[in-house]
Amino acid sequence: MSDRLFIFDTTLRDGEQVPGCQLNTVEKIEVAKALEALGVDVIEAGFPVSSPGDFNSVVEISKAVTWPTICALTRAVENDIRVAAEALKYAKHPRIHTGIGTSDYHIKYKFNSTRDDILERAVGAVSFAKKFVEDVQFYAEDAGRTENEYLARVVEAVIRAGATVINIPDTTGYCLPSEFGAKIKYLIDNVEGIDKVVIATHCHNDLGMATANTVTGIVNGARQAEVTINGIGERAGNTSLEEVVMTFRSHKDLGIDTNINATKITGISRMVSSLMNMPVQPNKAIVGRNAFAHSSGIHQDGVLKNRESYEIIDPKDVGIDENSIVLTARSGRAALKHRLHVLGIELSPADLDKAYEAFLKLADRKKEINDDDVLMIAGAHRKAL
Ligand code: KIV
Ligand code: ZN
Repeated sequence: MSDRLFIFDTTLRDGEQVPGCQLNTVEKIEVAKALEALGVDVIEAGFPVSSPGDFNSVVEISKAVTWPTICALTRAVENDIRVAAEALKYAKHPRIHTGIGTSDYHIKYKFNSTRDDILERAVGAVSFAKKFVEDVQFYAEDAGRTENEYLARVVEAVIRAGATVINIPDTTGYCLPSEFGAKIKYLIDNVEGIDKVVIATHCHNDLGMATANTVTGIVNGARQAEVTINGIGERAGNTSLEEVVMTFRSHKDLGIDTNINATKITGISRMVSSLMNMPVQPNKAIVGRNAFAHSSGIHQDGVLKNRESYEIIDPKDVGIDENSIVLTARSGRAALKHRLHVLGIELSPADLDKAYEAFLKLADRKKEINDDDVLMIAGAHRKAL
């Protein structure tokens, strides 16, 4: 039996904050429904006080989606919380996500305040949110750079005030995996009442470690991962949903799994990329165009003999049903033979040799050989016979 990891998707809030990625309400509903079909547990639908558009999107997503919890972000400000509660009034499972910066950088420079005052404001925000909804998630912004002892004091106080989920964001993407994992463990070992709540990770990717930090946080006891589709988000982005889900699917020994229907991952990745006008880098793990493409002859030969020699994930498991063998000048005879077979053409070994010669000549001129090229090579070759 695997331990359940809750997936909290913030594509429509943290992801949508990226300049140029804004969606209208109709598009957000489309993404929210796709997230529901994917099987996410929580959809962070927006920051209602930030604009009438965000408010309206949270209202409409709350009406359109049934199964997942709908979450709305606030600062530790009463009016934000009141507005969020109003936006969530149609949600079947509403959650308010309130919080405040807890690192000394935030306390000193952003709030010009003190640790004691910030702790008081954190408790006040959670207590106020509890007047509207049962499910209140608290975030300690910049927890990654917050001293552990103070962070533990804040977390203990907000749990006492009724928080149900404690979010530990590495807002600036600063932590090392070992450091972030140790932070989660420190909280588990030192905070009274922590066993009654779910601990969440929320990692940014400034040093390219968002997924590593998230996975280490979960291995150390967190049970909610905050993620976005394609890892979109501020600056270098957030932790990507597909990487976390497939890491735990690939490492069953860790004993952790999610409710995600992974075969829908590629579809939603393409939907988000096209709606947000945000191309996915070709070598992006799991959803990049080249994530399952084999181009060198040695790899192609290995994959054709047994996929597992070079593939740790069957592309079909994430919804890819396309040919993963890319034909280039580095492809071997075996790859060409396989493609011909897929296209319904069988050649004798001698004919295959001739076709392969023609293929290499064309592949030297063209970067990638497509099915039309292969059919042309086979056709021209047959005529010559
Ligand atoms: O990165 C962050 O700290 C956030 C919080 C508002 C949860 O996005
Ligand atoms: Zn964030």
